[in-house]
Order: sequence, then structure tokens, then C-alpha cells
Amino acid sequence: MATTIAVLSQKGGTGKTTTVRTLTDVFRRIGLATLAVDLDPQGNLSDYLDVDPSAEPTVGDVLTGRAKAADAIHDDVLPANLGLAEAELTLGGKMGRELTLRKALREVTDGYDVVLIDCPPALGLLTVNALVAADWALLSAEAQYFAMQGVEQALEVIELARDNLNPGLEWLGVVLNIADMRTRHSREAYDSLREHFGEKLVEQTIRSSIAYAESAERALSIVDYRPDLGLDYLLVADELLRRLDLRGARRRLKPLIEAASNGHKPDA
Ligand SMILES: Nc1ncnc2c1ncn2[C@@H]1O[C@H](COP(=O)(O)OP(=O)(O)OP(=O)(O)O)[C@@H](O)[C@H]1O
Ligand SMILES: [Mg+2]
Repeated sequence: MATTIAVLSQKGGTGKTTTVRTLTDVFRRIGLATLAVDLDPQGNLSDYLDVDPSAEPTVGDVLTGRAKAADAIHDDVLPANLGLAEAELTLGGKMGRELTLRKALREVTDGYDVVLIDCPPALGLLTVNALVAADWALLSAEAQYFAMQGVEQALEVIELARDNLNPGLEWLGVVLNIADMRTRHSREAYDSLREHFGEKLVEQTIRSSIAYAESAERALSIVDYRPDLGLDYLLVADELLRRLDLRGARRRLKPLIEAASNGHKPDA
């Protein structure tokens, strides 16, 4: 059975989509069959993963019952487009609206080891659907002054989802993203997250670099585009796999970490 992880944040632009995109890539490299689910009408993940923009059906069709999830998966991506905004509105008036994604994914997840869900930058119905479909919630927090508040609000929604809809939901952790640890505000954000959330803070941070925008433009993974920076994600993946107790996958990740540490492309 697949392990399903929803990646969310209360704020926009915290690096959620880049996290899902890069973890999808890293997991696939170590042999984990990974389904990437785009649950944001912006469709950024679909774009990053190079899905044909005219691919049909999409996740919006699945949520409104117009298509089956199996038919909406294109190269192991369940893509989204602006139609998802309309689907969210339609869904809002339906019974069991929070359970729709969970039910739809149930039919396809058997074929996967990991399912990663990219949430929109809002804690509304789509994010709740992701949390109800997930086993784990992973928070992304941008290394800014208000990182703490954003994490606390997201945690409240996770608790609500757990208490009312998905008792099995667990908090995988929080990743400090787009961080420049040379600056005081990034260090302060890290320290206050550490103080409040202890071990739940993923020790490895994702460094800020313009290379992320460049690699997105070229539809390349940061792991290939800049292996030295990609190492951050390899180390985050390692911590997450430890928390998920996926030991075989962790072992397979080790040589990639060693290669990137030595400045090589992991697959070179
Ligand atoms: N580590 C990083 N350093 C610098 N820029 C980054 C980093 N990670 C992502 N970015 C850039 O920041 C922007 C936002 O990233 P991304 O789309 O991953 O965030 P998001 O949380 O998914 O945003 P949204 O809330 O709009 O969905 C993008 O332009 C991306 O290229
Ligand atoms: Mg996004």
C-alpha cells in the first residue's frame, strides 16, 4: 500500500511545489513508484513535471465525478489546471465533499509506493481533501519572520482533519524552505521552529537560490541542474524516509547523497 504525503502551507510561495517536484524525482531515482498529485488550480506541479497542458482528464474531472482517477493519471502525474477552481466550487455543495479525493485515489494507489500531493496556498476544501486522503502531512515554511504563525495555522487545520475526518493522519514534519542561513531572519525562523516543534523540524534546510527558478524554467530537477544544491533535497528525503521507516529506500539513497556531496551528478 502506498504512503500518501500531503505537502502544504498556509502561505503562498513557500516552496511546496518545488518540494513535491523534487521529492518525486528523488523517490523515483531510488526505485519508489511515486504518483505526483497536483491539487492546485495554478497547475504549477503539472508544469514542472512537464505534463502536456492539454492533457485530459485532470484532477478537477476526478473530483467532480466526470472521470476516474486511473484515466486522469498521465505518466504518473495526476495533473491540474484552472478547471480545478471550478471543480472546487462544485464540490463545495456536495455531501462528503472532504472525502472525495481519498475515495478517488483509493482505486489507484495500490500500484504506488508513495503518493505526493501538492496543495494550493490556502487551507480550504482542496487542502482538506489532501489531508483526508493522506497518511502524513508535511509542512513547508519559508524562512521569514512570520514562518511560525503560518505553521501554527496549518497545524490547526491538520488537527481538525485528524479529529473529524482522518484519525490516521500524522504530522511528518516541517521543512524550512528558501532559507539563507547567513541572514539573521532565516536563523531566527529556524530557531523558533526548533524551539516550538523540536524534532518535527527537519534538520536539513533548503537553501535559497536563483537556480530553482532557472531549473523550473528548463523543466529540470535541481538534482540534475545543480547537484550541489540538490543535496539539500537528498538530505531532506533521507530524514523523511527515516521518519517513514522506509529503510530499503534510504539505503538506495545513500550513494546519491555521496555522489552529490562529492560534486557529481547522482546518476553520473
Ligand atoms: N530553495 C529555493 N530558493 C529560491 N527560490 C525557490 C526555492 N524553491 C522554490 N523557489 C522559487 O520560489 C517560487 C515559489 O516556489 P514554489 O512554486 O515551489 O512555491 P509554492 O509554495 O508551491 O507556491 P504557491 O503557494 O504559489 O503554490 C518559484 O519561483 C520557485 O522557483
Ligand atoms: Mg505551488
